[in-house]
Amino acid sequence: MTDTLVIYYSFTGNAKKIANYVKEKKNADILELEPKTPFSSSYDEVVDEWQNNDIKRDVEIKDVNVDLSKYKNIVLITCTWWYGISPVMKRFLKEYDLSGKNIITASTNAGWIGHSLKDYEALLKDSNIKGELNLRFSSGEGNRDEMITSIKDVDDWIKKLD
Ligand SMILES: Cc1cc2nc3c(=O)[nH]c(=O)nc-3n(C[C@H](O)[C@H](O)[C@H](O)COP(=O)(O)O)c2cc1C
Repeated sequence: MTDTLVIYYSFTGNAKKIANYVKEKKNADILELEPKTPFSSSYDEVVDEWQNNDIKRDVEIKDVNVDLSKYKNIVLITCTWWYGISPVMKRFLKEYDLSGKNIITASTNAGWIGHSLKDYEALLKDSNIKGELNLRFSSGEGNRDEMITSIKDVDDWIKKLD
C-alpha cells in the first residue's frame, strides 16, 4: 500500500501530465480536483472571465472521496492562474486538512508564476513543505504544452519526498 498521494488540478493538461509522471515514479495514488461547475472549455473565455473578475472569488469544488489520513506524503500540482495557484487548488487547501503531512508543491505556468509557491506556503502552515517547483511551460499559443523546466529538475523535486 502506498503512503503517497498526488493531488492535482489541471485546466489544459500540463499539470495532469506531471501528476501522472509522479504517480508512476512513486507508485502513488492520484486524485484529480474538479470544480463543481465546469469552467468554459474555451481557453480565451476562461482567461477573460478570470482576468476581468476578482481572482479572489471562490469556486466550489466536487467532494473529495479519499481518506487523506492514509497518506504521509502529498504531492500538490496546480496550474497558475493570474500569478497565484488556481482557485480550485486554493479551495481544496481551505477545505481539507493536510497538517503534519510531508508535502512537495508545484505550479505550472507560462513564465509568470507570481506568488503561487507562496500561496501554498500560506495555506499549508502546519505541514512540512519539503520541496517547491516552478513548473514552467511555453507561453506560445500553439505549444503551451511544451515543458521548459527540465525533467531532471522534476526528478530532483520528487526526490525531496524521500
Ligand atoms: C485563466 C488563466 C490564467 C493564467 N494565468 C497565468 C499567470 O498568471 N501566469 C502564467 O505564467 N501563466 C498563466 N496561465 C497559463 C497557465 O498557467 C499555463 O499554460 C500552464 O502550463 C497550464 O497548466 P495546465 O495545463 O495544467 O492547466 C493562465 C492560464 C489561464 C487559463
